[in-house]
Amino acid sequence: MRFKDKVAFITGGGRGIGETYARALAAEGAAVVLAEIDLPAAQSVAVSIAESGARAMAVHCDVADENSVDAAVAQAVARFGGIDILINNAAKHLMEFAGKPTELSRAKWRLMLDVNVIGIVNCSAACRPSMRARGGGVIINQSSIAGFDPTTPYGISKLAVRGLVVALAREFAADQIRVYGIAPGPVDSPSAMADLPPALLDEFINRLQLIKRQGRMADLVGAVLFFCSSEASFITGETLTIGGGYPLKI
Ligand SMILES: NC(=O)c1ccc[n+]([C@@H]2O[C@H](COP(=O)([O-])OP(=O)(O)OC[C@H]3O[C@@H](n4cnc5c(N)ncnc54)[C@H](O)[C@@H]3O)[C@@H](O)[C@H]2O)c1
Repeated sequence: MRFKDKVAFITGGGRGIGETYARALAAEGAAVVLAEIDLPAAQSVAVSIAESGARAMAVHCDVADENSVDAAVAQAVARFGGIDILINNAAKHLMEFAGKPTELSRAKWRLMLDVNVIGIVNCSAACRPSMRARGGGVIINQSSIAGFDPTTPYGISKLAVRGLVVALAREFAADQIRVYGIAPGPVDSPSAMADLPPALLDEFINRLQLIKRQGRMADLVGAVLFFCSSEASFITGETLTIGGGYPLKI
């Protein structure tokens, strides 16, 4: 129960990786806020977490809309008294955004950048005052290994997410707010498993990864709990790849 006095605001917490992070933090005592554009999905996760005895709330939030983010953060602060942990997980992703840069419509480019990049700026700015008032906090940005070889619109957005890890770490350090990135390879969220072509998954598992098995959402949880804990108190501005050994970097 190492997070029993903490409040975590998780964007895109209504399914997949965001839901997995919320359940893991709640199991360690945190109150969790599931900030979602899909409110019914977030409500059903909140009910399920509350049934396990933890504190959870669902709130409507479009991370791309500054006013929506401010209202969601205000609701979370009113309910739980503040925010200590922000997980910027919501994103436009999957094959729709994995083609050639000039072949994606400009409207879809703008929407994706608004959600994946500006969304992180909106949520980080909105949570900062509460974190500062509570003596500090932790922000985790969900990047991707696609951000290390960014040949697609999605990869370019996730490269920007890595940049925001460093930029926000510098900007928020004075408020004792630490900032991290997590860059997974393909993991078994229901949306990824439904959308990623089997040949692409096979390429990752059998050719690109050193550890030759499908990545799981559970493989990401240990890093999140570590970054949120005091054991990471002398680390900030770092992005950790979790991809079975791909991509290897020196
Ligand atoms: N699944 C993978 O293999 C994988 C790999 C690398 C990185 N990632 C990243 O991990 C994160 C989660 O992935 P996932 O597979 O769980 O995704 P998902 O699509 O299953 O879930 C994303 C959630 O975000 C919500 N969302 C979308 N737009 C939003 C908005 N504007 N405001 C608020 N909420 C919004 C959706 O409603 C959804 O519940 C994403 O950032 C993704 O890019 C995923």
